[in-house]
Amino acid sequence: YGEFNQRIDYVFKVVLIGDSAVGKSQLLARFARNEFSVDSKATIGVEFQTRTLNIDDKTIKAQIWDTAGQERSYRAVTSAYYRGAVGAMLVYDITKRQTFDHVARWLDELRGHADRNIVIMLIGNKSDLGSLRAVPIEDAKEFAQRENLFFMETSALEATNVEGAFVTVLTEIY
Ligand code: GTP
Ligand code: MG
Repeated sequence: YGEFNQRIDYVFKVVLIGDSAVGKSQLLARFARNEFSVDSKATIGVEFQTRTLNIDDKTIKAQIWDTAGQERSYRAVTSAYYRGAVGAMLVYDITKRQTFDHVARWLDELRGHADRNIVIMLIGNKSDLGSLRAVPIEDAKEFAQRENLFFMETSALEATNVEGAFVTVLTEIY
């Protein structure tokens, strides 16, 4: 994924949001570096990684921001986090119902801070753990349809749909 001296047509900021431990950082690791870590540490503060990729005949630099899913005490961080974002990945864990129940809250925060035209992808992560499923895919599809979001189930572990989810958002932005 390393590259240099490349002409960049667009730089797109995309933010990751969702409850703690749903797999935001591992989705980013998979997309940016094709890596995965089983003993991933909870994110502290804000981090970002970039990956440059070609979509159609354009070179797009995706700048993906990642932060902690835990309650944030610094609301100032929230504004800075969303500022300039043109895409968002709203992640829940298909094995943890509560993380899906909180999606509406994340969406409120997102819509309160981000640009009106932001492209939003709802992501049900950990699709490799199908036997532990607590969120029916139909519930998520309905929610996404009602709220006008894209939707995919992914597995950062197995690298299922991760590329597809990010590329869909980047393509829609562009
Ligand atoms: P915070 O930084 O606390 O907000 O959490 P996070 O959303 O960044 O979660 P993180 O990526 O750190 O992953 C949490 C745990 O879930 C780690 O143990 C990961 O290895 C695991 N995990 C992440 N993605 C998957 C996946 O697709 N499948 C499975 N089975 N485990 C995953
Ligand atoms: Mg994290």
